[in-house]
Amino acid sequence: MAALPLSASDFRTLAAQVTTLAAEYIAGLDGRRTFPRVSGAQSHKLFGEVLPENGLGPAAFTALHEVLELSRPPSPRFFGYVLGSGEPVAALADLLASVLNQNVTAWRSAPAAVALERELIGALAAALGCPGYHGSFCGGGSMANLMALAMAREAQLPANEDGVRAGVVYASSEAHMSIPKAMAVLGLGRKNLRLIPTDASWRMNVSQLRQAIAADRSAGRAPFAVVATSGTVNTGSIDPLAQIAALCHEYDLWMHIDGAYGALAALAAPERFEGLNAADSISLDPHKWLYQPLDCGVLLFRDAAAARKAFSYTGDYAKSLDDDPLEGFAFFEESLELSRRFRALKLWLSLRYHGMQAFRGAIGADLRHAQLLAQQVAASPRLELMAPVSLSAVCFRYRAETAGVDEDRLNAAMLKRVIERGSVYLSNATLGGRFALRACFVNHRTTEADVARIVPEVLAAAQELLAES
Ligand SMILES: Cc1ncc(COP(=O)(O)O)c(C=O)c1O
Repeated sequence: MAALPLSASDFRTLAAQVTTLAAEYIAGLDGRRTFPRVSGAQSHKLFGEVLPENGLGPAAFTALHEVLELSRPPSPRFFGYVLGSGEPVAALADLLASVLNQNVTAWRSAPAAVALERELIGALAAALGCPGYHGSFCGGGSMANLMALAMAREAQLPANEDGVRAGVVYASSEAHMSIPKAMAVLGLGRKNLRLIPTDASWRMNVSQLRQAIAADRSAGRAPFAVVATSGTVNTGSIDPLAQIAALCHEYDLWMHIDGAYGALAALAAPERFEGLNAADSISLDPHKWLYQPLDCGVLLFRDAAAARKAFSYTGDYAKSLDDDPLEGFAFFEESLELSRRFRALKLWLSLRYHGMQAFRGAIGADLRHAQLLAQQVAASPRLELMAPVSLSAVCFRYRAETAGVDEDRLNAAMLKRVIERGSVYLSNATLGGRFALRACFVNHRTTEADVARIVPEVLAAAQELLAES
């Protein structure tokens, strides 16, 4: 086993083993616990062995069983965070992407991959009602948001040569943590991110946004961008995009839409996303609401020249010698990344295999599942719905029967217990300082019967805890 090359027949045998393992895993997903029974220490002990000096050969693959057993499965009853369910046709494409090992830097390095990615970006943008937008795939929404704010900064307050000047960005108090993180990384400073309060539906309050911009302007500061969120991470609320776009137009500000969670739902419910096509840039996460395996993020932008202004800084070794606009194209002129995986292949194959209608149908089912859970919560006297359900996130909590119970602590303990019970997986949110249980539906495997498991599990967890106290 001293040499690395693998014969074609060994590859075929091993690939067959892996696909059998994967197919059995998928077939058994419904019967699996939603979180494995394992402690941190046990998991580290299992994978902490010394790496072998001499290869194990096919026996190396036996340990994959342990990886599978200790993984948190993409179960039909996984409702935590905002995490897509891993569509298997896309997973097969990922295998091929690794075999092809295209470095999707530039057309001359990866002709099929670059052409496919550019065409897919155009088609996806058009399907969302944003024809003519450009863009690229990236690791996820956080990276897309970072690149968008870098573009906004360079368009409005150029910093690439002389360094950063102070400038102010606006987002709602419900904005994702990747926005303050981007402010910090870009040297703009988190203190220059104004978190605008939200209305009763957790949407950015536009008149307060206007006041904040005006106040900063009259104090001599330099507002330069607004981040609207279409699908906030806590409740799925959609900021008033069209009104924010009008304000950005009026004040000449860059408008970015963080659509990492929600904007892809415009494929199924475009009427909820009026104003999406007024943005200068939009983050999307096909690894959330197009069910793609991680990682699969997208940044769309209206003006490719703005992307080049922010990111084009090409070493001589990478300069294209080609005048043909297609053959001379390089993603690294329009993106922070240089070496890039062939991420578009999985989405392309998955969309081609199932068709757009199937994806619209699955998103529609997620939207219905959220309404169904909201009804079931509303029908339960011990549960309280904590926010309107704008998309597919449902925030709720248990109300104790007796006075004097710390409901935040009780609900936090309940979440831990629900996860330990292993039948459904929920996560949490904090709304107005109050702890909420949260179920988010971006899962193509979920059925109504799976949704119906949530309320009984939550109530059972509460009963167990109250009986123990
Ligand atoms: C609204 C929003 N923006 C950005 C992100 C970050 O996306 P990623 O985890 O792909 O970096 C998330 C993740 O949940 C999100 O919900």
